[in-house]
Amino acid sequence: MTSFVAPPSAELHIHIEGTIEPEHIVAMAARNGVTLPTTNIADLKARYAFEDLQSFLDLHYSNLTVLKTEQDFFELATGYLDRAKVAHVRRAEIFFDPQTHIANGTPLEVVMAGFNAAFSESDRTHGISTDLIMCFLRDLGADAAGEMLTAIMPFRDAIIGVGLDSTEIGFPPELFVDVYARAAAEGLHLVAHAGEEGGPETVATALDVLHIERVDHGIRAMEDPALVARLRDERIPLTVCPLSNVALRTVDTMADHPLPTMLAERIVATISSDDPPYFGGYVDANYEAIQRDLGLSDDQLKTLALNSFDAAFISPEQRAGWKAEVEAHFAG
Ligand code: HPA
Ligand code: ZN
Repeated sequence: MTSFVAPPSAELHIHIEGTIEPEHIVAMAARNGVTLPTTNIADLKARYAFEDLQSFLDLHYSNLTVLKTEQDFFELATGYLDRAKVAHVRRAEIFFDPQTHIANGTPLEVVMAGFNAAFSESDRTHGISTDLIMCFLRDLGADAAGEMLTAIMPFRDAIIGVGLDSTEIGFPPELFVDVYARAAAEGLHLVAHAGEEGGPETVATALDVLHIERVDHGIRAMEDPALVARLRDERIPLTVCPLSNVALRTVDTMADHPLPTMLAERIVATISSDDPPYFGGYVDANYEAIQRDLGLSDDQLKTLALNSFDAAFISPEQRAGWKAEVEAHFAG
């Protein structure tokens, strides 16, 4: 049996904070004098079992209290790049949640300096083109999102877009109309998590009132045939995270995942890893899992990898070059 080799791809749904490995958490807690419920790696890993999105978010935010210094943010970012390179990621459009770090007492300048040190050179150091997408934490509300957009303006050139993450139920897209309109006026790309736990109506609303260009997750869109047709006809990409969906019980098992239906419906589905150490692996592990558990063919995997570059915020020249690499991978 030959071992699985992941195709070259663009990773479009990756929370940089969610790439923190248990070993980072323990080391940073020690050097920054942060007290955690446990600093035993085995005990920490034993907590990586979730009921739903919120049970994950509670642990995730608790672990993020260890991030304090520019060096911490640099190491976090570099850790992702090291692993993404192994997973054959060529392009990463990376979410970050500055409201979390500001609430934890770390100035925005420190966060941005750490990321800049890692990501501004990622082409040269890792062969990965990177850009940042700033996410608003939906459970902190619209006013806080507006303040965050104002606060990031001195770093406007360090981001390419805005997104919306954290607790979905109870914080629908329509709350964020004004801040998305301001972001659009700034020329920022617009994406949002929708249809992860919320129903298909949250996907339609995010498209209608936030004017997003891609849907993060969006798997519950498959419950509404009219919305499925719209996503296909308007070629609105979904950033699907299969291992995340199983880990957060959005689907019962991988075999129940709607990805094959998405492909049959010719939706621009793409594959990403979301928060990989928590959910069982990076983007290569996601490709391997869908091949194994959903029985996807090479042609279907190729479509997903090609879609990832179609859905990326990149130049036509970059797109053509990376798509040629995907073709070569599957021809070889
Ligand atoms: N959903 C919403 N918020 C998040 C996620 C997610 O999967 N990961 C990190 N923040
Ligand atoms: Zn996510």
